[in-house]
Amino acid sequence: MSQALPYPSAPAQSESRGVLAIPAFRKLWKSMAFSSFGDWLGLLATTALASDLGGNYKKANFAIAGVFIVRLLPAVLLGPIAGVIADKFDRRRLMIICDILRFGLYLSIPLVHTYFWLYTGTAIVETVTLFWSPAKEASVPNLVPKDKLESANQMTLIASYGSAPFGGVMFSLLAGVSAIIAPFTNTRYSSTADLALYIDSITFLYTAWVVYQLKIIPRGAASKSAVNDNIGKSLIDGFKFVSHSKVISGLIIGMLGAFFAAGAVIGLGKTFVGDLNAGDAAYGILFVAVFTGLALGIWLGPKIFGQFSRRRIFGISLTISSAFLVIFSLVSNIVLAILMTITLGAFAGLSFVTGFTLLGLEVEDEVRGRVFAFVQSLTRISLLVVLAVGPVLAAVIGRHEFTIDNVHLHYSGAAFTLFGAGIIGLVVGIFSYKRMKDRPKVSFFSDIRAAFRGELGGITGKSHKGIFIAFEGGEGSGKSTQVELLKTFLVGIGEDVVVTREPGGTDLGKQLRKILLDPKTGEISPRAEALMYAADRANHVHSLIQPALARGETVITDRYLDSSIAYQGAGRIMEPNEVARISRWATESLTPNLTIILDLPADIGLARLNSIDRLEQEPLAFHERVRREFLNLANVDPERYFVVDGTARVDEIAKQIQDRISQIPQLKVNREKLKK
Ligand code: TYD
Repeated sequence: MSQALPYPSAPAQSESRGVLAIPAFRKLWKSMAFSSFGDWLGLLATTALASDLGGNYKKANFAIAGVFIVRLLPAVLLGPIAGVIADKFDRRRLMIICDILRFGLYLSIPLVHTYFWLYTGTAIVETVTLFWSPAKEASVPNLVPKDKLESANQMTLIASYGSAPFGGVMFSLLAGVSAIIAPFTNTRYSSTADLALYIDSITFLYTAWVVYQLKIIPRGAASKSAVNDNIGKSLIDGFKFVSHSKVISGLIIGMLGAFFAAGAVIGLGKTFVGDLNAGDAAYGILFVAVFTGLALGIWLGPKIFGQFSRRRIFGISLTISSAFLVIFSLVSNIVLAILMTITLGAFAGLSFVTGFTLLGLEVEDEVRGRVFAFVQSLTRISLLVVLAVGPVLAAVIGRHEFTIDNVHLHYSGAAFTLFGAGIIGLVVGIFSYKRMKDRPKVSFFSDIRAAFRGELGGITGKSHKGIFIAFEGGEGSGKSTQVELLKTFLVGIGEDVVVTREPGGTDLGKQLRKILLDPKTGEISPRAEALMYAADRANHVHSLIQPALARGETVITDRYLDSSIAYQGAGRIMEPNEVARISRWATESLTPNLTIILDLPADIGLARLNSIDRLEQEPLAFHERVRREFLNLANVDPERYFVVDGTARVDEIAKQIQDRISQIPQLKVNREKLKK
């Protein structure tokens, strides 16, 4: 359990393949995948062995808790020290020695066959792994070029976690093998768990051999450990940063909830299966089911729910997953339980990828490492707690029998504890949904309805380094004046500012603008008009806005997507959602950090105009509809919109806008503050 936790920020397929094309890395990777497989098998085996040695219900559960504690505790206690020590030795030799030690230790556990050695041996294996991991971590940069490091890390995670279901399948198969060979062997050394541990030990011997052959790893110690394993420091640092953001804190609380629930299933699985009178094979399959579900959720979830807001999906999938955990704890049938487990795993997987994608989107590059280290430390601790406490609780609760209307129900401590974990998951899921949801005035159900009509577009667009601000409003609302005032203000506080407008931000845009606004153009069909504005916008985003944001600049645009929703949607009386969908496609869902709406009764605005263009010729009712639509949009999502009274004095308006802008966390001044 000492592998790093998975942070799937989804590399392009070709990238991850690319890194495996490097022969030395491929060799190391294959051996890592094989030994992770062995490790999962070992995890199943040691818990099974603990419960076999345990005897009665209470003892067996304490024994299982013990296994998890000895597996996780060394990392918590010795992690930081081990990293420092490991950095002082020759990497390759250290890895080989560690692997040979692990081979011997795993082999000895079934042979010695006592509690004492099960725990001591496991704790030593974990300690040895603490030295092995930094050595491996430090060797990878020698095997792959710098720009492939990220995908190398991702491949490592795939090896660590992708091998879990294979471990589960193997364990179930070994249950069969053990039954077949039982008559011919000494059963003391040939139970399922024993066989699994023999195989586990061999995987480490193999890794030792592979590393021995990797002479490409340079001699000597690594200069600096790649992993920051100081749990205390990363907790404090991360906590400071995380508490600034409602979304990130909601996210992290939710992810802890997910680990809590998943840990409960893993920690109590063996007992739960035993309570249903199912054996080792079923335990293996339950394990496979969890990971199959997780994999399905991670792989298919984002495809199926791509239409949805990630900030909403996260809490919702966590809640659904927990609901299934509650049901799971109530069914006393192994087949149903396994089906439940797959579903539960799938939603947990979905919330997991969504969570990590969001972390990647919401957290800036500079602090991402710190935040991820924070999450990693927190999850380790929460796993330790749940894996250790879960079985103990189950033992204390014990078995109970209920009779309701002549129906006998057996519920054991494991079922009760899982039920409790499910309820905690439910509460946490609902909490983080509430905390993180965007567009507070749009209900969950109307989102679902919209998704069925295909009207939601990726609501959470790509993240960008710079800040994107849009000004919107009816005719004569004074946008141009305020755009200039805001620019002066932002330049004054050290931002690099680009001012642009729609239509007409680019060369192509200028030509489109002429066609669109010149009264001589005459009538344009409403849909053609919408498409032309969208075409202008697509070009604008692609060739001007996106590059500036990527450089970290602040972009202020005079009008953006909401103008189309208001003018072509509400004004021309087309479905505003459909118009929005075209623009989201055109802009690849690039959404402003803040949209400022200068609100003004249509007649006052129109009276301010000197000349009249094609749209301004429209009747008053048209402009009233436009105004109402802007206000509707702002009403639905107060986080992203700021409405200012356009009839106020110019300097008052400017002041209000500056106050609101100053709260944007990505501003350079604010970033400085956050760092302190
Ligand atoms: P604007 O740049 O505000 O014109 P002006 O320089 O006269 O203030 O707006 C151009 C016109 O284009 C305005 O009437 C609104 C209209 N418009 C749309 O109808 N849809 C859109 O998507 C955009 C960006 C503008």
